Amino acid sequence: MSNLQDKKNNTLTITAKPSNKVSGNILVPGDKSCSHRSIMFGALAEGTTHISGFLPGQDCLATMNTFKAMGIEIEGPDSEHNVTVHGKGLHGLSKPEALLDIGNSGTSIRLLSGILAGQRFETRMAGDNSLNKRPMGRVITPLQLMGANITAASDGTPPVVCSGLAADEKLNAIDYLLPMASAQVKSCVLLAGMYANGTTSVTEPGITRDHTERMLTAFGYPVKSIETEQGKKISIEGGHKLTACDIQVPGDISSATFFMVAGLIAKEGQITIRNVGMNPTRIGAINILQQMNGKILVTNERLAGGEPVADLVVSSSPLKGIDIDERDVPLAIDEFPAIFIAAACATGITRLRGAEELRVKESDRIQAMADGLVELGIDCTVYPDGIDITGGQLTSGTVESHDDHRIAMSFAISSLRATGEITILECDNVATSFPNFVALANQVGLTLIPNN
Ligand code: S3P
Repeated sequence: MSNLQDKKNNTLTITAKPSNKVSGNILVPGDKSCSHRSIMFGALAEGTTHISGFLPGQDCLATMNTFKAMGIEIEGPDSEHNVTVHGKGLHGLSKPEALLDIGNSGTSIRLLSGILAGQRFETRMAGDNSLNKRPMGRVITPLQLMGANITAASDGTPPVVCSGLAADEKLNAIDYLLPMASAQVKSCVLLAGMYANGTTSVTEPGITRDHTERMLTAFGYPVKSIETEQGKKISIEGGHKLTACDIQVPGDISSATFFMVAGLIAKEGQITIRNVGMNPTRIGAINILQQMNGKILVTNERLAGGEPVADLVVSSSPLKGIDIDERDVPLAIDEFPAIFIAAACATGITRLRGAEELRVKESDRIQAMADGLVELGIDCTVYPDGIDITGGQLTSGTVESHDDHRIAMSFAISSLRATGEITILECDNVATSFPNFVALANQVGLTLIPNN
C-alpha cells in the first residue's frame, strides 16, 4: 500500500459517548495469530486444508493474498468464516509477479521471511506506513546466519528483499538464542528450519505464544521442545512434510480483552464472551486483570482443534492498581493498551516494566497510550520499558490512534468511564484485526459513532 493510499484511507473517526451499563453474550472473531498460520501451513501442506473460524481482518487477508500471488488456490472466507486452502507442499510456491503487499501486518512479513528464505525465487515485501517503520533486523539476522540471501533497508525496515537460493544451495540449521521474547522471530526461524540441512533450534528468553509449534504438529510436522537454563528450546528438523488437516480457529483473546475491560470498568453489568482461545501462552491479560480485582470467571473450558478454549463471564468490578509481574508481559503483549485503560479506572498506581517491545508494535504503544490518557486527564509517567498510570477520572477530548487498531479500540472502551465525548482519530486500521468491533461494542451497550 502506498503512502498516498494510506492517507486517503485513513479517514475514519470514532466518536465515543459515555454510557454506564453493559450487558450481552457475544462471540469475538477468530484468533489473528492462528488465522495467519492456518493459511501459511495450509499452503505449504500436501492436500486440502479446511479452516473454520478464520478472522476476515485485513491482516489475515493480506497473508491470504500473498499466497494467492504465489500460486496457491484459496476459497473463502465465506459468510461463516470458512476457508479452504489447496496446498502444494513445501516446494510448491511459485514466483509472484509483483512486490508482495503485506499491509499493516508484522506477523505476515516476519513469518513469511522465514518461508521465503527457503525458496528458489526472488520476492520483495513491503507494507503500509506503520509496517514500513518496523524493525526487520530481528528476522534478517538469524536468516542470514542460516545462509539466506535476504536483506532489509539500511535502517533495518522494509522492504524485505529475498533473492532466493540457487539450485544447489540449502539453508544451514542454526542454534539460535532469541535476543527478545518474540513469537514472530521464533516462528520465522523455525519455518526457515523446515528448509534447512539438519536441526534448527530456537531458545526463547521468556515464554512466547506457541501457536506455530502446536499447528505444525497438527499438520504432522515434528517439533520438539525442552526446558533449558536459558529458556525453552524448540527444535525442528528440515526435510519433513506438512499434511493437510482441519483447523478450528478459536476466538481471539486479544479481541476479547477489549470486552473484558469494558465489562470490568462499566459502572454496571456483565458480559459473557464465548469460545475464547485460552492457550496458556496468551492468558497474561486475564492474570493481570484478575490481580487488579477484576471479576472474570473462566467457564466451560474445553479443547477445540488442539487449542484450549473457554467462555468468560466478566462483571463490573472495583479495580485496584498493581505492579505487573514481568513474567506476564510476553503473555499479554498485545493487550497492554486495553489494560492501561483498566489501570486508568483503578484506584492507585499500576506499574509496568520490562515491556520495551511495546515501543515497536503498530505504534509506540507506551507513548501513544500515555499521550491519549494525559489528554483525557489521567496522570502517567513514561519509562523506556514501561509506564506508571495513576487511576483517576477520565474526562473528554480528542486522541490520536496513530493508525494503531488496538490504541483506537482501547480509547473507544474508555468512554464507559468518561465524563464527556471522546473523539478517536485514524481508526481505519481497526479492520485489520476486528472488523465488527464497533457493531459488537454498540450491541453490548457502548455508544460508538463512526464518521467517515
Ligand atoms: C504474534 C506475535 C507477537 C504479537 C503479534 C502476533 C504472532 O509479536 O505482538 O500481534 O502471531 O506470532 P512479537 O513476536 O513481535 O512479540
